[in-house]
Amino acid sequence: MLEVKNLVRTFKSGDRTIKPVNDVSFKLAQGTLASIVGKSGSGKSTLLSLLGALDKPTSGDVLVNGVSLAGMPDSRLTDYRRQGIGFVFQQFNLVPNLSAVDNVMLPMEFAGMRKAARLSRARELLEQVQLDPGKHARRINRLSGGEQQRVAIARAMANSPQLILADEPTGNLDEQTGEHIIELLSSLSRDHNTTILVVTHDRQLANKTDRRFRLQQGRLTEEASPARPAATAPAPAPA
Ligand SMILES: Nc1ncnc2c1ncn2[C@@H]1O[C@H](COP(=O)(O)OP(=O)(O)OP(=O)(O)O)[C@@H](O)[C@H]1O
Ligand SMILES: [Mg+2]
Repeated sequence: MLEVKNLVRTFKSGDRTIKPVNDVSFKLAQGTLASIVGKSGSGKSTLLSLLGALDKPTSGDVLVNGVSLAGMPDSRLTDYRRQGIGFVFQQFNLVPNLSAVDNVMLPMEFAGMRKAARLSRARELLEQVQLDPGKHARRINRLSGGEQQRVAIARAMANSPQLILADEPTGNLDEQTGEHIIELLSSLSRDHNTTILVVTHDRQLANKTDRRFRLQQGRLTEEASPARPAATAPAPAPA
């Protein structure tokens, strides 16, 4: 369970203060696939950074299975980032001159896993994201955008995190590849009971998630989802 409580993040910009995350609260049950949409600059990436402990809130708290990030010392936060969370960003953050399989092995190395175990798990994950086996040993900078995104997702899954945070994971992919990526995330949340939060500009993609949120000037609201209607949504009119 991911629980966000009255989260606020302010930035000083000259003599102005902006609040890209302004009193945001929500709860996600384990295994939920959720999306956040919102205009450019509405605070989406700022919110994900707070959830992933890449940044600290001005106030408020994030609880992961009841454990408060606000109360965690920095050393434990580092462990949380490395083991508890998988990140998928639009710019992939893969190591361009390493192979696909080496990129997926990297987080497991930080976690202290043995080489043979790392290698077999990395291959298994790349199979799960359906990267052509002939491309497992290929350098990242020789893969297409969609293939790189699959590698990024496999890497995010490496340490079996309870939470995956994805910032525009289909942003620079064509529609069909984007659809494959969302199906992949959807099956991950189902089959591995992983909570996944995806920031997206893509309506189609948002429509396929269990819960949909909109961020507007730092305020989060929930919308009914075609995949699973929100509790507060009005019932559809009888036919
Ligand atoms: N480290 C920072 N210091 C100061 N201002 C920041 C910082 N990070 C983000 N901002 C500002 O906070 C606001 C929200 O930015 P954020 O990156 O969260 O938007 P976003 O919704 O992810 O936009 P996009 O869709 O373009 O990625 C913007 O006005 C941005 O300029
Ligand atoms: Mg952003």
